[in-house]
Amino acid sequence: MTAESIPATTREVQLASRPDGDFRPENLAVVQVPLREPGEGEVVVRNEWMLMATAYRDLMNEDCKIPVPRFEIGAPLTGRTVGTVLRSNSPQFAPGDFVEHFLGWREHVVLPAQALAKRDRAQLPAPQYFLANGPTAWRGIVDMAGAGEGDVVFVSGATSGVGSLAGQIAKHRGAAKVIGSTGSKAKIDYLVGELGFDAAFDYHDGPVLDRLRELAPDGLNVVFDNVGGEQFEAAVQAAAAGARFALCGAMTEQLGRDRADLPRLDLMASIGKQLTYRPFACFHLPEQIAIWNEHFAKWLNQGTFKYSHTALEGGVEFAPKALKGLLDREYSGNVVLKLTV
Ligand SMILES: NC(=O)c1ccc[n+]([C@@H]2O[C@H](COP(=O)([O-])OP(=O)(O)OC[C@H]3O[C@@H](n4cnc5c(N)ncnc54)[C@H](OP(=O)(O)O)[C@@H]3O)[C@@H](O)[C@H]2O)c1
Repeated sequence: MTAESIPATTREVQLASRPDGDFRPENLAVVQVPLREPGEGEVVVRNEWMLMATAYRDLMNEDCKIPVPRFEIGAPLTGRTVGTVLRSNSPQFAPGDFVEHFLGWREHVVLPAQALAKRDRAQLPAPQYFLANGPTAWRGIVDMAGAGEGDVVFVSGATSGVGSLAGQIAKHRGAAKVIGSTGSKAKIDYLVGELGFDAAFDYHDGPVLDRLRELAPDGLNVVFDNVGGEQFEAAVQAAAAGARFALCGAMTEQLGRDRADLPRLDLMASIGKQLTYRPFACFHLPEQIAIWNEHFAKWLNQGTFKYSHTALEGGVEFAPKALKGLLDREYSGNVVLKLTV
């Protein structure tokens, strides 16, 4: 492939101010910046799609608890992205290579070859499929909770990017029943009608514990928690003896208007039922991505798995509004934004 020309400038999204409470699009600024020439061992990439996620709101906080560098004022944001190599000063990459990296929120980027991973574009149906948050969902369901044959599984925040994958992975591992919580009737219908969850409920519809007791009268064996707060406390009460919890996120604390709503841990219930809690952070190691993409491709080909995602167009300019829409719970599944054609 002939090398595409490199623009002199590009656009990126920078943190303009740290949100005080709810995120506002004005907390971000879309800025035109020079695109420098690549040095020895560096590669120029045109970013095509980036992942939008709840975690970006956390990373704007001064006291962010996520174990990756927080966003800094006046600097571009970061996040998972796929794109095409335009020029390479590294023997490892050539123009036209399809790659994944963590410097999203910008149209083009110059970065060292070791910060990139090559992907086989033909492995999955479309570029944005490579941004599925499957490695995290897999880590929680398989490595942390060991969900398998006959388990009754509860996924909180089930229409989130991670949750929508976690529930489907559990079904593919032979779970007897997968229950999801979500925020609207339309999302319940989506979970059960489209994604193959056995049951779902709206967490606004009365006490979560009542819903879990109705749907899992013999108790939960596995809990994949994205939410924390009342949903975590209810899951502890509804857990069967020996239940395994994969603690993935705490959206009530991270995003809710109820940020101070930290869950209380019922120690005696935990001891009596010998519950296992496994909080985890998935760093998307190459082997975690490889095992996920392999299963994802297989299940998609078999027609037994859906990539639940909302694909947004509008480019880098739309990124602040896209994040606002995500945080306002307007979308379902992984939210991906097209950055360039
Ligand atoms: N441990 C790890 O390595 C790891 C990696 C990635 C992500 N995570 C965590 O996993 C969780 C899900 O991440 P994601 O990127 O998949 O999420 P996401 O796609 O951004 O999910 C957004 C959805 O979450 C639901 N939600 C938002 N606030 C909520 C609240 N206060 N209570 C209940 N539901 C709420 C909303 O759906 P409804 O309309 O249904 O409310 C919203 O549409 C987050 O906590 C994230 O930080 C952890």
